[in-house]
Amino acid sequence: MSEPISAEKKVFIHTFGCQMNEYDSAKIRAKLGTDGFTATQDPGDADLILLNTCSIRDKAEQKMHSALGEYRRMKKNGQPVTIGIAGCVAQQEGDALLKRYSDLDLVFGPDGVPHVNQLVREAMDGKRVLDTEFLDLETYPFVTEVETVDDQQVGAFVTIQKGCDNKCTFCIVPTTRGAEASRSSSQIVDEVKALVDQGVVEITLIGQNVNSYGLKTPGEKTFAELLYAVSDVEGVERIRYTTSHPRDMGDDVVQAYRDLPKLSSYLHLPVQSGNNRILRRMKRYYKRERFLEICAALKDARPDLVMTTDFIVGFPGETEEQFEDTMTLLDEVGFIGSYSFKYSPRPGTPALRLKDPLVPNDVAGARLTRLQNRQRELSSAWTRGHEGKVVDVLVEGWSRHDPGVICGRTDTNLMVNFPGDLSLVRKTVPVRVTRGFTHTARGERV
Ligand code: SAH
Ligand code: SF4
Ligand code: F3S
Repeated sequence: MSEPISAEKKVFIHTFGCQMNEYDSAKIRAKLGTDGFTATQDPGDADLILLNTCSIRDKAEQKMHSALGEYRRMKKNGQPVTIGIAGCVAQQEGDALLKRYSDLDLVFGPDGVPHVNQLVREAMDGKRVLDTEFLDLETYPFVTEVETVDDQQVGAFVTIQKGCDNKCTFCIVPTTRGAEASRSSSQIVDEVKALVDQGVVEITLIGQNVNSYGLKTPGEKTFAELLYAVSDVEGVERIRYTTSHPRDMGDDVVQAYRDLPKLSSYLHLPVQSGNNRILRRMKRYYKRERFLEICAALKDARPDLVMTTDFIVGFPGETEEQFEDTMTLLDEVGFIGSYSFKYSPRPGTPALRLKDPLVPNDVAGARLTRLQNRQRELSSAWTRGHEGKVVDVLVEGWSRHDPGVICGRTDTNLMVNFPGDLSLVRKTVPVRVTRGFTHTARGERV
């Protein structure tokens, strides 16, 4: 056994990608805290730099390589720093990263997080460390250390599952995160309580496919039951969750929208495409018609529900007509926002074996622009629709741009900026919207 790391060590974590990585980075900080590490915002001041990486699209991976270049330069210029790559690129590339970068000390995948202390100790002792083993699902050691949240923090993520058992043909996540396992509901509720005790009022349950929570664990709650359990925790004011998959969106979750006022009226439900042939070849296991049915049921249960989604354009073989189906779906559902991406071929994914031709980059780009332009119109129409109305805003803190202006979100996730001060943080206040922009609004307290 090596000595515990001395008290003054500082860790800088550069986080890429999705909420799972953000959460993992918080857990890494919490775990390294028990070994005397403090977090720093300045890589130049760090004894340990970790890149928690994303490989969902080629661009994400490129971003990490350029950031890594910068940190390696600091090391070359004499900073005594241990550098590690964690997360999805680490899992995907493994040893190849150590081979490619001779000054890299540590590579570990998402399943390395529970024993990150050991990995970091070895790396700081001068070993080159590689850990891309997946852990046993039956006994998956979900991290129970809870990060200390600062006294202004309004919301926090709580993971409810790891991995993903779906096999969407475009997606690298099942390779990088492994198979799905659900965390016990009692552990989830305990973490929610620990966060609420620190003053957090908004909880976001996270996983790659939250609707399938518990289905494979005998005796465990379903996702809907979990929502009720979290809603029962005193002090929780708002519950969100991400990401859900339309395939497993059941009637019991729809019912929760009738029963649970704490459940946010904002839902992110990725559809990917509006065309049935494309959906089938993506292996999404629902049709356009079923997706629309789900939307209608949800809006029936919760009339003020707003929805956002993810789209992929230019999936192999996508024709102009098939893309049109995505455009019409956008309008039919009236998504108030969406993330949209050009299809990016990922190593080892089933879509690589499809016979259909790749959509030329300029064609995919033109489709993406059309989709995003129409989305912008829908988004700003929705935002402007709030002008003159009074909305309840849960205050988060200073607005990013203007001094003396604070910001917060409505239950429907509209960001509203208005004059105020930090005494309002974590409180819900009525605000009259004076002006709507594309994604945010301006207002004044009433
Ligand atoms: N688990 C979530 C999404 C995870 S990835 C779900 O099932 O919806 C986030 C988004 O990235 C996806 O919804 C998809 O729109 C996009 N994405 C994933 N793989 C991609 C690829 N190969 N090319 C382009 N976009 C991709
Ligand atoms: Fe990827 Fe599909 Fe799993 Fe989402 S559900 S993480 S898109 S395989
Ligand atoms: Fe990226 Fe991994 Fe999340 S690939 S989107 S960080 S699960």
